[in-house]
Amino acid sequence: MFLWGTATAAYQIEGAVKEDGRGASIWDTFAHEPGRTRDGHTGDVACDHYHRWREDVELMSGLGVNAYRFSISWPRVRPEGDGPVNAKGLDFYERLVDGLLERGIRPVPTLFHWDLPQALQDRGGWMNRDISEIFAEYAATVAERLADRIPLWITLNEPFVHMAYGHALGVHAPGQALLTGALPVAHHQLLAHGLATRALRAAGARQVAITNNCTPVWPASEREADLKAADAYDILHNRLFNDPVLLGRYPDLSAYTTGLDAVRDGDLDIIATPLDALGVNYYNPTRIAAPVDDALPFSDAGVTGHPTTAFGWPVVPDGLRELLTGLKARYGAALPPVLITENGCSTEDTLDDGDRVAFLEGHIAAMRRAMAEGVDVRGYFVWSLLDNFEWAEGYHQRFGLVRVDFETRSRTPRASYRWLRDFLRAEKRAQEQAREQAREQAQNTET
Ligand code: FCB
Repeated sequence: MFLWGTATAAYQIEGAVKEDGRGASIWDTFAHEPGRTRDGHTGDVACDHYHRWREDVELMSGLGVNAYRFSISWPRVRPEGDGPVNAKGLDFYERLVDGLLERGIRPVPTLFHWDLPQALQDRGGWMNRDISEIFAEYAATVAERLADRIPLWITLNEPFVHMAYGHALGVHAPGQALLTGALPVAHHQLLAHGLATRALRAAGARQVAITNNCTPVWPASEREADLKAADAYDILHNRLFNDPVLLGRYPDLSAYTTGLDAVRDGDLDIIATPLDALGVNYYNPTRIAAPVDDALPFSDAGVTGHPTTAFGWPVVPDGLRELLTGLKARYGAALPPVLITENGCSTEDTLDDGDRVAFLEGHIAAMRRAMAEGVDVRGYFVWSLLDNFEWAEGYHQRFGLVRVDFETRSRTPRASYRWLRDFLRAEKRAQEQAREQAREQAQNTET
């Protein structure tokens, strides 16, 4: 069954940051530091999903999705990271999971969507190798309670973005600007992923995936220096996270950095523990030129000649086809089935979001072209169900199929919600008809 879903993340929607024993995360700390987020916005209340989750499940039920990707807040479940388990935190996710299942919606939890417990950051965060083991213990805690009801788990969300924005450039929590010194954060997250995959399976998990943010990389010109920079960027953004998971080895980093000193014997075997799917988040291609200084081995030349979203991101639907067929060409038989775990756009604050409809239509069509070219895609999740706390942009970027009024927290479905609902109904009818035809054919050949 093809999964059609929506996606969200805990810190972006839940709020209730001090309730029922939740510990602080690095995003609580970061968002409260002056100047870190636009207009000082924080996720303290966000969409208040912690209290309004029933309404949100009803919205998904009305939309007709058969899956929901959400994330579990690590500090809600283990407030100190590795200390005592907070039963009330687990109770919340159990209520949500049961509520989804009652509506025929498959729960697809992500265990880490950037909200590291602050207590673990105080011990070095992802620069500290011990965090990988501690993540696997937390993953096991959740699976012991929920594995019987979860068809598919996702370990990490976008370890590239967490490394690059959080630790190399410092524009996300925890706000470190280590540039290529942030590379251990890649390795420790990947190790955490591998250890958690094993821990989840040991606790009864059925299917496990990782979600990587992937981008087609376009060189700014055919000049040697631009080609070389594009290759460096492709390595750092895409291959650094896909190669070890799918092939059990790192790409050659020696030309750009001092390499990955954090790697120990046996780590890559753990990281390459076979997966049931690769989650891919796609937003746009990236155009790369030669470096402008010594800080990084590339510079962002910006994609031109395409429309942009309210966020200024280029809209290139065919980039999704290019990305998917590129993954197939690069990894061949080592590529497991793919899930598009996020795709979507921010628009102006309007209910009449024709731009979002065009965006989704274009990207779903591009995904189908890739499928026709032989890529095994098993699901598509729209980012996002609701307008939410868009990290450093606060509430300024609106990604929701459903509008949220951040004064009253009331929810209003947009035109794109109705479009997707009708699209999913038509999909369902087409599938039923195909099944019916197959039955008739089988009967005809019998008689
Ligand atoms: C992705 C994140 C998600 C959201 C979208 C717009 O990089 O995974 O939380 O912010 O971008």
